[in-house]
Amino acid sequence: MFIVGISGSPKHEKSNTRYLLTKAIDAAKDELSGLAEPIETVILNISEFDIRHCTGCDSCVRKLPCPQSEQDDMPKLEEKLRLADGIIIAAPSYFTSVPGVLKDFIDRSRAMKMLDHQLKNTVFGAITYAGLRYGGQEHIVDALNRYALGQGMIVVGAVGSPVKHGTFGSGSLQTDEGKWRSASEDVLAVQGSVLLGKRVANVALLIKSSGGRK
Ligand SMILES: Cc1cc2nc3c(=O)[nH]c(=O)nc-3n(C[C@H](O)[C@H](O)[C@H](O)COP(=O)(O)O)c2cc1C
Repeated sequence: MFIVGISGSPKHEKSNTRYLLTKAIDAAKDELSGLAEPIETVILNISEFDIRHCTGCDSCVRKLPCPQSEQDDMPKLEEKLRLADGIIIAAPSYFTSVPGVLKDFIDRSRAMKMLDHQLKNTVFGAITYAGLRYGGQEHIVDALNRYALGQGMIVVGAVGSPVKHGTFGSGSLQTDEGKWRSASEDVLAVQGSVLLGKRVANVALLIKSSGGRK
């Protein structure tokens, strides 16, 4: 079992979304720890990879290699993703959308769709974090989930207490009182991310034990 986390924040260790992603990935690992086969996880900081913009040349539509991939790190990312049983993307709200570095990855990964839906049946979950209490969180998750659907992935959400938890890992730096905190102090955001990680792990296991993704 291999679960890949993608941190879509340009910040690295100090990123709040990355913090939530580590919680989700750790929970996925815990959930599968009793299995006979090893569970491997990795967190990839998208901004540490050189990803050129998609130029819209449509080479991938013609099933030709992406010319940009000869010059950047996209093949390294694709290699990991192809092997993944589950993928979790965490993205901060940037003007109620995903940061540009992550959008470049999303656009460039079109080649994986055009060249035989390489991510088909990979289990997918989304996490987000915003500055403001109402900072566009639902839009980010919606954009990520629609991206995953476009790739043929199996989109799942957190399943926790029906009267306490939402369906994805999400929260805000801003508290209800208008004060400020980090994601580590945002209890519901942490719980939502943990639940999401568990859900991705469990559905990925279901798929693997029923014959695998392909
Ligand atoms: C360019 C930019 C745009 C942002 N736009 C929004 C926004 O529309 N709504 C919001 O609530 N927060 C916004 N923020 C704040 C971030 O969502 C917030 O700081 C978040 O915690 C960053 O996540 P990170 O720590 O993982 O990078 C923005 C931050 C930046 C740098």
